[in-house]
Amino acid sequence: MNLNATASRKLSSDSFLIRPIEKDDLLELTALDHGSRENPWTKEMFQKELELPFSIHAAVKDEKELIAFGVVWQVKEIAQLIQITVIPDRRGAGIGTFLVKHLMKICSQKGCKIMELEFEQGNIAAKKLYKKLGFKTVGFRKKFYGNQDAILMQCAL
Ligand SMILES: CC(C)(COP(=O)(O)OP(=O)(O)OC[C@H]1O[C@@H](n2cnc3c(N)ncnc32)[C@H](O)[C@@H]1OP(=O)(O)O)[C@@H](O)C(=O)NCCC(=O)NCCS
Repeated sequence: MNLNATASRKLSSDSFLIRPIEKDDLLELTALDHGSRENPWTKEMFQKELELPFSIHAAVKDEKELIAFGVVWQVKEIAQLIQITVIPDRRGAGIGTFLVKHLMKICSQKGCKIMELEFEQGNIAAKKLYKKLGFKTVGFRKKFYGNQDAILMQCAL
């Protein structure tokens, strides 16, 4: 991705609406996820997610469409970041940062003390995003994603 090309499209948080995922988002969200990563969730998976009492989620919308979503599971004082996805042609513009910061704030307000997550070692964008937000590496899972190791990170909230 050419980050310079997207820099001119950097947006302020005033440009987005961020709110919990709603039932009416499911079709659009499924399409977003299918166009964004290798193992996308189905509509049924999103639907089940909305019914989980411990799921904390957010969708980011611009004036036209959904552009990102994130899901966290609250396990007592631990917030486990399950997934965060930004639509490919909007990456590198600060939306991932905005979304994770928002989820960290919501989780802290709900009593979580730590956020933890894992991602594929070769995922440079994810590594940069989480390091920038203060996450520290706390472990690895060998060959967790096929041949790739998983990096485990944590951050105090
Ligand atoms: C990871 C992801 C959510 C980042 O979203 P994003 O909106 O591009 O993130 P931001 O624009 O806030 O960028 C965060 C940092 O990563 C850097 N970055 C983003 N994409 C990058 C890339 N492809 N290569 C290198 N650095 C990248 C940005 O420059 C920024 O750092 P900076 O502020 O120091 O410049 C997005 O790439 C994505 O949806 N990937 C697919 C799903 C995924 O891998 N999710 C994470 C695992 S759960």
